[in-house]
Amino acid sequence: MTENSIPIRLATMVDVDALTELHYASFTPDEHVPVMLGKAYVRATYIWQTTGKQSYVLVAEDHGKIVGLVAVCDGQFTRPMFMACLPEFLRCLITHPTLIFKKKLWSRLFRRPDISVRSKKLADYPGFAQMTIGVVDENCRGKGVFPLLVAATKVYSKARGSRAIRAGIYKTNVPSRRVFIKGGWIESPELQTPDTVFYVAYLDSLFMEEIGMQQAEQSG
Ligand SMILES: CC(C)(COP(=O)(O)OP(=O)(O)OC[C@H]1O[C@@H](n2cnc3c(N)ncnc32)[C@H](O)[C@@H]1OP(=O)(O)O)[C@@H](O)C(=O)NCCC(=O)NCCS
Repeated sequence: MTENSIPIRLATMVDVDALTELHYASFTPDEHVPVMLGKAYVRATYIWQTTGKQSYVLVAEDHGKIVGLVAVCDGQFTRPMFMACLPEFLRCLITHPTLIFKKKLWSRLFRRPDISVRSKKLADYPGFAQMTIGVVDENCRGKGVFPLLVAATKVYSKARGSRAIRAGIYKTNVPSRRVFIKGGWIESPELQTPDTVFYVAYLDSLFMEEIGMQQAEQSG
């Protein structure tokens, strides 16, 4: 596999099972709450992301096999995606009642509301897209697949009218952070949480000035 030979395309409903498998194989339940909830819940999130008007999923293919994915929502995704997947969430709790005692589940679901920049919630800045997830098949990592997917989001989101994209990455996830730093995404200290750092790609030069965000010294 060479970088130039990796086609990138939009995912559709037909790809949902492959996306689910790739996602499920790449995170432990502790790393990602949807995985804690089970495959059916992960699948529900991809149905929402591939079929909804508010988001899109890009996939990288190697000889017809999906080896990487990245998903972007045109705005905030946590609440709308959770609401869309609520029936599946409730089914998971009924079939696996011990999940109720998982502190991490509730802390992630009810984490603090979106922060404000210049006393305006980020959700109130139209055009601020959010990357929801990115994954590359374990056997294809370190070959530049994710950088291609991340770069493509700028093109797709711009075409959808977005003015910027933000991506929240666990501070400990060095391989992923390197992709955003090398891709020229800007680390934004205002958005960071105790465990997550945010990188922003500005697609409209006026937006950075309008939103008035600072730029951190790159630390990854
Ligand atoms: C993070 C991730 C998407 C990167 O994808 P990728 O296509 O391997 O990206 P790259 O090829 O640019 O490699 C990125 C970094 O991974 C590291 N890396 C290199 N070879 C690797 C390998 N075989 N396995 C894992 N990481 C490797 C390197 O540090 C590399 O940085 P460098 O280019 O400066 O050397 C991928 O590791 C992954 O799917 N991880 C699990 C899910 C995840 O953490 N997703 C991101 C959070 S949303």
